[in-house]
Formats: sequence, C-alpha cells, structure tokens
Amino acid sequence: MASTSTVTTLTIFFFVCFIELTVSQQISTVDSECTGRWIHIRTLPSRFNLDLLSTCNHYPLTDDLCPYLANHGLGPKTHTRTRSWYRTDPLLLELIFHRRILEYPCLTPDPNLASAVYLPYYAGIDSLRYLYGSDVNSSADHGSDLLSFLTQDSPEIWSRRSGHDHFLVMARPAWDFSQPLTVDPPIWGTSFLERPEFFNLTALTLESRFWPWQEQAVPYPTSFHPHSLPFLESWIRRVRRSRRTSLMLFAGGGGTSSTPNIRRSIRLECTNVTETEPETSSEKIKTCDFVDCSNGICEHDPIRFMRPMLQSSFCLQPPGDTPTRKATFDGIIAGCIPVFFEDQTAKMQYGWHLPEEEFSEFSVTITKEDVVFRGVRIADVLMSIPKEEVARMRERVIEMMPRVMYRRHGASMGLMNKKDAVDIAIDGVLQKISSRG
Ligand SMILES: *[C@@H]1O[C@H](CO)[C@@H](O)[C@H](O)[C@H]1NC(C)=O
Ligand SMILES: *[C@@H]1O[C@H](CO)[C@@H](O)[C@H](O)[C@H]1NC(C)=O
Ligand SMILES: *[C@@H]1O[C@H](CO)[C@@H](O)[C@H](O)[C@H]1NC(C)=O
Repeated sequence: MASTSTVTTLTIFFFVCFIELTVSQQISTVDSECTGRWIHIRTLPSRFNLDLLSTCNHYPLTDDLCPYLANHGLGPKTHTRTRSWYRTDPLLLELIFHRRILEYPCLTPDPNLASAVYLPYYAGIDSLRYLYGSDVNSSADHGSDLLSFLTQDSPEIWSRRSGHDHFLVMARPAWDFSQPLTVDPPIWGTSFLERPEFFNLTALTLESRFWPWQEQAVPYPTSFHPHSLPFLESWIRRVRRSRRTSLMLFAGGGGTSSTPNIRRSIRLECTNVTETEPETSSEKIKTCDFVDCSNGICEHDPIRFMRPMLQSSFCLQPPGDTPTRKATFDGIIAGCIPVFFEDQTAKMQYGWHLPEEEFSEFSVTITKEDVVFRGVRIADVLMSIPKEEVARMRERVIEMMPRVMYRRHGASMGLMNKKDAVDIAIDGVLQKISSRG
C-alpha cells in the first residue's frame, strides 16, 4: 500500500507541475489555421480533477486504479522495453484527453477569443463515489458543485452561449450519468446528463444513448499509444504480415447462462467447432478461436488478446451489459475485421471516428436475431466472403487504425500529422458547436 500511494503522489505531483508549466506558457500560435478553432481550457479548482486522483483506491467494487494513473493516464508499460504498449484503463481517458489537449496548437487564455471551452473535470472518476461510494443515495447531486462554480466564478463565460460552447470528457457509457432525476432512490448511475442546466454542453462519452442527446461517443482507449511515425508504421507492417490462422475470434466473457442470447450462441458455435477444417489442401485454419476473458482477467493484460486478434481474420463483437465494447478497438488495432450483431455496438455510436457510410467496407454485420433464433451460423456467413474481399476489408480496417488510436502525448511531428482519436474528437466538437450558430 505504501508504495502504491507513493507512486500515486508522485504521479499527481508530476501532473500538477506539467499542467502549471503549460498553462503559464500557453503560446498563442498566431496562425490563420486557428481561425474558428481556438479552445480555452477553463481553470477549475483542483477538487474537480487532480484531488480526485488521490481517491484511486477508495472503491473496492472497481479495480484499484492507482497503478493505471502512470504516464498521464496511459498506465504502466506492458513490459520495460516496449515503446508503444501500456496497461491502459479506459476510465482514465479523462486524464489522457486532458494531457493531450494541453498540446493542442490553438489554445487561448482568453475565453472571449475561444470557439470552445474545455472543462477539465474528471467526471467519471468523480462519479465513483455516487456509483460505489458513500454518495450512492445522492446521485442527483452529481454536477451541483460544478454548476455552482460555473455560475458564480466568472459567470459570463458559461452564460455567454448558454453553455453551448462548453465540452468535457466523461469516460464511461452515458447510461452511468443518465439516471432520471425523479427516480429516488436511484437504480443505477448519476443524473449529471439529465440535469436541464447541462443540456447544452457536449459530453464525450465511451457510449451514447439510443436517441440524439448532448453526448457523443468516442473510441475506448486501447493499449497502443505510439509516439512516433516509425513505431506506428512498423506495427502496421506487422499487422499486414501476420498469418491469420483462424477464421474468427471471440475474446470476452459471458454467454454461460441458458437463456438464448448472442454471447451464448457464439460460445456454443465456437466450442462446437474446435476441429480444424481444411481451407486449402496445404493450409489448415481454425474456424473459431475463443479467449476467455471472464472475471475481468483481460482488462489490464493486452497480451492475452492482442496476439490471438493478430492471428484471426474476423473478431466477433457481440453486445454485453451495454451495446459497446472496448474490444472493437483492440481488434481494429490488430487488423482484425469486426463482426457486429447490432448497430448500437459501433455504427450508431462512433460516427465521428468510424464513418457510418463506410461501415460495410471495414466490418460485417450479422443481426443477432438471425444467429440466436434463426440458426444462422456465423462461420458460414464469414466463410462465404471471397478472399480478395477479406483482404480489401482488412486494408480498410488498417486505414481506420490511426483514427481510433490515442497516440502518446509528446509525440513526434510526423505522427502528429496523422489525426488520431483526440484530434478527430476536437474537430467534431468544434464543428458541433459552430453548427449551433
Ligand atoms: C442508501 O439507501 C438504502 C435504502 O434506503 C440504504 O439501505 C443504504 O444504507 C443507503 N446507503 C448509504 C451509503 O447511505
Ligand atoms: C440552452 O440553449 C437554449 C438556446 O439554444 C436556451 O434557450 C436555453 O436556456 C439553454 N439552457 C440552459 C440551461 O442554459
Ligand atoms: C455442433 O456441430 C454439429 C456437427 O457439426 C452440428 O450438427 C450442430 O448443429 C452444432 N451445434 C451448434 C450449437 O452449432
């Protein structure tokens, strides 16, 4: 415990130093490229961000988050010699994004010049006390403190556009912040996104609700965070070269109950076809590979699933407790073509990062009802896709890779010229805000 808290204290210390250094040096790139793109980072009291990091081991229902605060939220490296791979916890996207936006070239200390105002509030980390902690019966209060700050400290910044130009990151599914205010005691989640006072701001979440709302889903961070173009390029070469020795892979848990559902169908189909089937006379490929990730064992251990994903042509992405999955993005990083069973898993979520109109070029959709109730075998569908078509789809997956990855902070210029998940999210926010006039 002592060593964990020392690490945490050090991490927080470096984080604070870095932020102070950057804020005091905010350089205005006087550059026409910044016209209409200036962002002001609102200075919030530390109780809204840094202080929350010291609660990283307070909630026994989640993993101890402290080790994953390292490297500005990317987590510890997977092994000492790697330059690009980290044990990243998706909940820490709030830190990762905060660290990255400090490098955004069009920051302005003057809110009056800004097209958008970023709130560096770690909403998901703060929500833990309402979801799992002592405030479980007060979840309608989530956001009250932030709101009083915004309406009392320089209130003109918040009010000038009724909140329309403000945005923040909430690194959980939006459901966790969508508890109706009238439900008391709460069933699950806080009411942050249900408060009318916040209806105009833009929240970047890991999953959005089914109907258009103030949130926009952004990719789950994976474990891959390269910091220069040669590292990205050498990984892409490895992805292209990798021998795909199984047709399809499922990495995940669930599906063990007897009620019909898509995970159960996948589990049955995968455990039934363990024998190898001849693909050509010389080469044998496995029909289905199954990586059991039950009880969260894969969560901070990317080696368990990245290697099998590199060796499979297709990665099955069934919905679980909620429709979206981090594994969708792990698979894309591995060049494994995603197979979706409902549009809510990705197509209706990540429109900024995975263009909706191109979906069929880099993914396959098989409706879950066909598999669960109409006896469609997933392997049959996938085997019927011609080889050249599979190769074409894999190239399109590889093209998507930079768009969904979160490159490391302090990256080289070469890599900064490729838009990553943060760059695309910022473009999306600016466009969304400007479209509201
Ligand atoms: C929350 O409310 C429930 C039901 O009223 C009660 O059993 C529980 O002890 C309360 N929890 C806390 C942390 O106050
Ligand atoms: C949200 O914006 C609309 C105008 O677009 C405004 O009428 C409304 O008062 C705003 N809501 C809040 C809570 O500021
Ligand atoms: C398992 O395999 C057998 C023989 O290949 C097949 O008849 C059966 O329908 C399969 N069961 C499932 C659940 O896929």
